[in-house]
Amino acid sequence: MQLQKGLSFATSVALALGPAPSSASPSRSNCNLTVLDSEYTHLLPLPFEGNLTRDFLDGTALENQTVAAVLANAQKSAFVSYDDEFTRLIGSATLDLIVPDAPFPNGEAGIWVPDLNQVWFVTTLYGGPTKLYILFLENNTVVEPQLTATAGYGTHIPLANPAGGYYFNGTVYLALVGTDQEPASVVSVDPRTYVVRPVVNSYFGLELPPVDDLVVTYTNTSRGVEKHLYLSTLDLSAFGLTVGRPAAVLPNAFWMFTPETGALQPIIPRADIFIPNGVAVSKDFRHLFVTDTSATASVGGGALWNVTGSPAIYRYDLSPTDGLVSNKVFFGMTREGVSDGIKVDDKGRVWTAEYEGIVVRNSVGKVIGLFNKEVILGTQTPVAEMANFALAGDTLVLLALDKIYTVKLAETVVSPDRYTV
Ligand SMILES: *[C@@H]1O[C@H](CO)[C@@H](O)[C@H](O)[C@H]1NC(C)=O
Ligand SMILES: *[C@@H]1O[C@H](CO)[C@@H](O)[C@H](O)[C@H]1NC(C)=O
Ligand SMILES: *[C@@H]1O[C@H](CO)[C@@H](O)[C@H](O)[C@H]1NC(C)=O
Ligand SMILES: *[C@@H]1O[C@H](CO)[C@@H](O)[C@H](O)[C@H]1NC(C)=O
Ligand SMILES: *[C@@H]1O[C@H](CO)[C@@H](O)[C@H](O)[C@H]1NC(C)=O
Ligand SMILES: *[C@@H]1O[C@H](CO)[C@@H](O)[C@H](O)[C@H]1NC(C)=O
Ligand SMILES: *[C@@H]1O[C@H](CO)[C@@H](O)[C@H](O)[C@H]1NC(C)=O
Repeated sequence: MQLQKGLSFATSVALALGPAPSSASPSRSNCNLTVLDSEYTHLLPLPFEGNLTRDFLDGTALENQTVAAVLANAQKSAFVSYDDEFTRLIGSATLDLIVPDAPFPNGEAGIWVPDLNQVWFVTTLYGGPTKLYILFLENNTVVEPQLTATAGYGTHIPLANPAGGYYFNGTVYLALVGTDQEPASVVSVDPRTYVVRPVVNSYFGLELPPVDDLVVTYTNTSRGVEKHLYLSTLDLSAFGLTVGRPAAVLPNAFWMFTPETGALQPIIPRADIFIPNGVAVSKDFRHLFVTDTSATASVGGGALWNVTGSPAIYRYDLSPTDGLVSNKVFFGMTREGVSDGIKVDDKGRVWTAEYEGIVVRNSVGKVIGLFNKEVILGTQTPVAEMANFALAGDTLVLLALDKIYTVKLAETVVSPDRYTV
């Protein structure tokens, strides 16, 4: 779920735009990649003045014009690397426009369906009721699936504002935030027949707050295989959004649903994650990653703001026996805006859509590179953000509002095996 930047940035910090200095240069093998010395991420010549609501690269004012120019020039690159791992990952990749004129503001979900070579995505709630679309990667065409409901569920099409989702073992699960007509829920969709089935819509008769994202794992138990659906629920008023329902009655939380046992249980309270948003899992199912979309720019950074949340990524251990979580680890802090659309690749790298673009952290939390929003979306007013993307094998699929881009990476980042039992 995307938090829109509420401010407009007409004034710009004065910057020297000289010739590209030699201390940071486009990579020898890829003119769309700038490799920056990672020292700039933590040590700058004085005086400098950064701004939480402006990009690091061209929004940091520096008296030292050489360094200012290095950073500002990097802002012109589609890919910015702070680490050899990212440079290798990009290789000779280019930013390829595959859908130039999407007639819809796409931007959420980003569900790779490997069996069918598809990416499912939804439009953003900021553009009105959300719609589900399917991108066929084999020919770069986008279709709106003609969904039908399973018996007894007939009045629930169109879907009640799908927001996030996940493919697992032949089924697509969708998180729905709800409408004025019906509460938030989780549904499953058969990607071959487009038949929709309800999965979860209440907790002992109480409505869930809007369900925003979900991920699926499974465990081998003595009773057989048990799946776990991890879902985020949050009161959307934090984003100034409403779907026409009364305020949530249950507090924000992450939940775990186990279809085989029928257990819907809360796993992370709002005291731990103030504004739950994305949820992702490592390939080996040992770690759950979640995001808190408490934005420093809107809720303040200092103690005076009385807010416990940070714009951040947290990692939990997942129990291989019962699927419950423990050992919260502070994994990453979003520099600008919030982290959205979280995915964890096969090497444990964590990918999130932040206001500067798609930010990639390595498996131990270092920011190693950026898919630069300023090049992907261009500079537009009001400022637009990317909220989500898909990792499909060796391809990053960028949901860029009225466009879709792909970036073919130098390695397979997500293989299909995590999606089957
Ligand atoms: C940060 O940038 C915004 C937009 O340019 C501006 O309104 C604000 O005053 C800046 N903040 C600081 C601390 O300079
Ligand atoms: C990437 O590099 C190619 C080849 O130099 C160039 O034509 C293209 O414009 C570049 N794309 C971007 C987004 O910089
Ligand atoms: C600017 O910063 C660079 C890198 O820290 C340094 O080598 C250079 O001497 C500085 N230039 C000036 C004019 O201070
Ligand atoms: C694209 O591929 C899908 C899946 O094979 C197919 O159903 C569809 O007709 C194709 N569309 C076009 C325009 O070729
Ligand atoms: C996975 O899919 C297969 C084939 O449809 C099905 O037989 C099996 O029950 C599914 N397993 C789980 C745990 O959902
Ligand atoms: C479940 O058991 C199967 C068969 O022993 C094994 O291949 C698989 O890796 C196990 N999965 C998990 C998540 O433990
Ligand atoms: C934080 O709480 C204190 C004490 O209740 C209150 O005086 C103050 O106005 C609050 N600050 C904000 C930004 O809400």
